[in-house]
Amino acid sequence: MAAGASLHDACLATLPTLRGTFGLAAISPLEPEKLVIARRGSPIMVAEVAGGWIVASDRAPFAGHAESCLSLHDHELALLEPGSMKVNSPTGGSLARGLVAVGIDLADTTPGSFPNFMAKEIHEQPLAIRRCLAGRLVADQIHSAGMRTIDEAIGTPERIVITGCGSAWHAGLIGAQMIESLAGIPTEVHVASELRHREIPVSPGTLCVAVSQSGETADTLEAMRELARQGATTFGVVNVVASALAQDTDAGMYLHAGPEVGVASTKAFTAQIAALALMAASLSPAGAKRTEFLRSLANLPDAMARAVETETAVRRVAERLAGEENWLFLGRGINWPVALEGALKLKEISYRHAEGLPAAEVKHGPLALVRPGLPVVLVAPSDHTAEKMLGTIAEVKARGAHTVVITDGVEPRLTRGADDVILLPAVHRLLSPLVTTIPLQWLSYHTARILGHDVDRPRNLAKSVTVE
Ligand code: AGP
Repeated sequence: MAAGASLHDACLATLPTLRGTFGLAAISPLEPEKLVIARRGSPIMVAEVAGGWIVASDRAPFAGHAESCLSLHDHELALLEPGSMKVNSPTGGSLARGLVAVGIDLADTTPGSFPNFMAKEIHEQPLAIRRCLAGRLVADQIHSAGMRTIDEAIGTPERIVITGCGSAWHAGLIGAQMIESLAGIPTEVHVASELRHREIPVSPGTLCVAVSQSGETADTLEAMRELARQGATTFGVVNVVASALAQDTDAGMYLHAGPEVGVASTKAFTAQIAALALMAASLSPAGAKRTEFLRSLANLPDAMARAVETETAVRRVAERLAGEENWLFLGRGINWPVALEGALKLKEISYRHAEGLPAAEVKHGPLALVRPGLPVVLVAPSDHTAEKMLGTIAEVKARGAHTVVITDGVEPRLTRGADDVILLPAVHRLLSPLVTTIPLQWLSYHTARILGHDVDRPRNLAKSVTVE
């Protein structure tokens, strides 16, 4: 590169030679009024503020300083000068890239009256679900621009492949059962980091649904892009507006859950389930089954508010069990992914080992782990799996486990002999994860607090995993 090249030309020439992922900003003492930003795989956005620019990897720093910002797409670069912002494609051509709303208030950037963000975000769940449903579920009808786009593109999908990581994967497992039960469309779910290496058959009628709070998770992005390359139509279920996943999918549905700051996902997880419930209903035929589901969905925020009120009862359980090093979480049907989620929550903020399993699997080996006093959390609403859950409770109880039963009181036998019972409102079978998850969030929260851990920023973890 010729000596004396401009900062912008130097970046255009240098960036393609870099390996790996980055979100960067570059300045030069020779052109102090200029700033170049660039993105490859790691989010970077910029907002013009009084006297200059704020460059960040998410929107929170813009709150209170700017109403709108620019979020670069992958492989793009922008030259910022006072009063001007020029975006370039990877080949240097100019791009017209609109600004997006910051969408975060200052109130979103503090826990407010709560001790931390996780407690605030657990409490916010009824509101988050109301916001997710607002304008989309109206008088038993679904209004979704994203689903309309899919319908115009491929009609009813022949097959649906849902993918995500961590809690988003768990939400996908729940969404798949809703879609198959209501819409009768074959639906499979894959952990994104594994899907990228699979060679699953893809046809033009395949819909890939990528679930992600941040919309920046590298494994989820790459899995979705791989299926897109093979001809699938793609749909993003995302919380962060204008994130990479939102930019790169053919259509999508924003969660509108508001910023989720706590590393352990709570309101975004339940909002993902609500969004997938809307998708399931929009793909299903009109009729009594769909109407009953939607009426229950519309009332779910009230039931979730009552589930949030189980905090005191759950804290008492945590006070008894916080010293336990190992836990089992068991569930059946639509609630075995909730058992996975409960185990993940406990691991990621209390650092205790926990394993989530489909309840019947405990017989095929893990029962050997059960010893007197071992905490076994059983997610057991009174649905069609209740009789079988009674057998599981008896199995672990007979070996001395400390049983914590999460149920709704409709089937009283589920509570008999349990060491601890957390009672929830009874809701539609397919929607019970929206309430059964909440006491498990409180259980991990209070266990971690008793152990003195930072519930918002647990060790070793990041809010958005942009590395592969
Ligand atoms: C959930 O509590 C974890 N923080 C983590 O598993 C998270 O769900 C996962 O990393 C996926 O993140 P995403 O939803 O932003 O893609």
